[in-house]
Amino acid sequence: MATRKPAFKLVKRPATVRHGKTLRGEPARKELDRIEVASRDEIAALQLERLRWSVDHAYRNVARYRQKFDAVGAHPDDLKSFEDLARFPFTAKDDLRETFPFGMFAVPREQVLRIHASSGTTGKPTVVGYTQKDLKTWSELVARSIRAGGGRKGDIVQVTYGYGLFTGGLGAHYGAERLGCTVVPMSGGQTDKQIQMIQDLEPAVIMCTPSYLLVIADECQKLGIDARGLSLRVGIHGAEPWTEAMRQEIEDRFAMDAVDIYGLSEVMGPGVASECVETKDGLTLWEDHFYPEIIDPDTGRVLPDGVRGELVLTSLTKEALPVIRYRTRDLTALLPGTARSMRRLARVTGRSDDMLIIRGVNVFPSQVEEFILKIGLYSPHYLLEVRRDGRLDELTVIVEPKDEAVSADAARQGAEILAHDIRTFIGVTAGVRVEPPDTIARSAGKARRVMDLRGR
Ligand code: DLL
Repeated sequence: MATRKPAFKLVKRPATVRHGKTLRGEPARKELDRIEVASRDEIAALQLERLRWSVDHAYRNVARYRQKFDAVGAHPDDLKSFEDLARFPFTAKDDLRETFPFGMFAVPREQVLRIHASSGTTGKPTVVGYTQKDLKTWSELVARSIRAGGGRKGDIVQVTYGYGLFTGGLGAHYGAERLGCTVVPMSGGQTDKQIQMIQDLEPAVIMCTPSYLLVIADECQKLGIDARGLSLRVGIHGAEPWTEAMRQEIEDRFAMDAVDIYGLSEVMGPGVASECVETKDGLTLWEDHFYPEIIDPDTGRVLPDGVRGELVLTSLTKEALPVIRYRTRDLTALLPGTARSMRRLARVTGRSDDMLIIRGVNVFPSQVEEFILKIGLYSPHYLLEVRRDGRLDELTVIVEPKDEAVSADAARQGAEILAHDIRTFIGVTAGVRVEPPDTIARSAGKARRVMDLRGR
């Protein structure tokens, strides 16, 4: 099978020169992993074989899986087709919490070479682990993701995701090394130093949260540095929801390509799915290592491709911490492959846990972001404040003018337009408060977009 000719055509986007920088097109076919352009049949065959291994591995080595599978009468031997997977129970964050710290590991702890912990905003953190082989797979998938984004062997990559228990920094770091890049391990924060390093070392690639990159852009502006004139050619951004409007803003301010990268600690870290620069149309899910399902978050029913719902992931090759039908809480849809033969995830609009329900209307911060940026007067740093006034929820969108040039009058008029757009297109009445520039707290990692003061 491995010798069959790939049946997939690459989407062509030749290298282009934009703003004096050579932006790369699609990688040459010979640079890609063969499976990236394999036929759907080949991918499915590999997935099924690996799926059966993974479910069996979890059942044999993790008491929690064994109990849960036995409780519903599902046995790994019953797994003959992808449809059979629906007979197995979901795994959730609580499974990890209740077996904290190492109860879900499927190998002896001595074989676990690295620990990370999820950022968990609520409750106890959860611990994840990797064997040597898991670390190799992870770095290979991040290398693949950077290449998909337009990074190449020999590039200098500034890693501005936080290093430590968070998977962003070290995940990006080893992936970039694996691709053959020169890594600048900055971690998050120290914005002036980030800029200094970009000026001095001239990295082609930066990896950080999209919101933090805009903090860097603002700082450049304050220092009188033209961000478009910097060396950056590609930004690889994720770890939080962002929008097309935000991509546009980043690309304009840095004169570079900006692509999306997705992942979560429980399933691996960054590099579960990543966007291809030649199409910028959602994230190619690395299906040789993960099997995706989309479910209705309320009923748990599996939904067909193309329909939006909650992403459920099953790891296919992970040794230390296999996850079977892990409920990510992330909302997206599965789309057919374009730049690669593997399927894509539509941009992740947010987690079901981040969804605000304001007087019965579902509101995601990313929906509001789209309207804030469309007006063109406000910075991409914003906050949704929710209070309960008597029995009614009150939503206030707090924004800042993007710079001193925006007059108070213009900012006020913009606020009216924004309130109107939110009412008309999202269906909820919101107040808009314009604060002076630089008032809203910035983060060097994941931005905090919601301040929920209900129940206080
Ligand atoms: O955020 C891993 C990561 C690091 C991904 C760097 C990309 C880049 P956690 O801290 O466990 O892991 O958080 C995972 O972040 O379930 C999503 O809700 C959200 N998230 C991650 N990437 C994206 C993205 C890392 N591209 C949680 N778009 C996930 C939207 C994202 N949300």
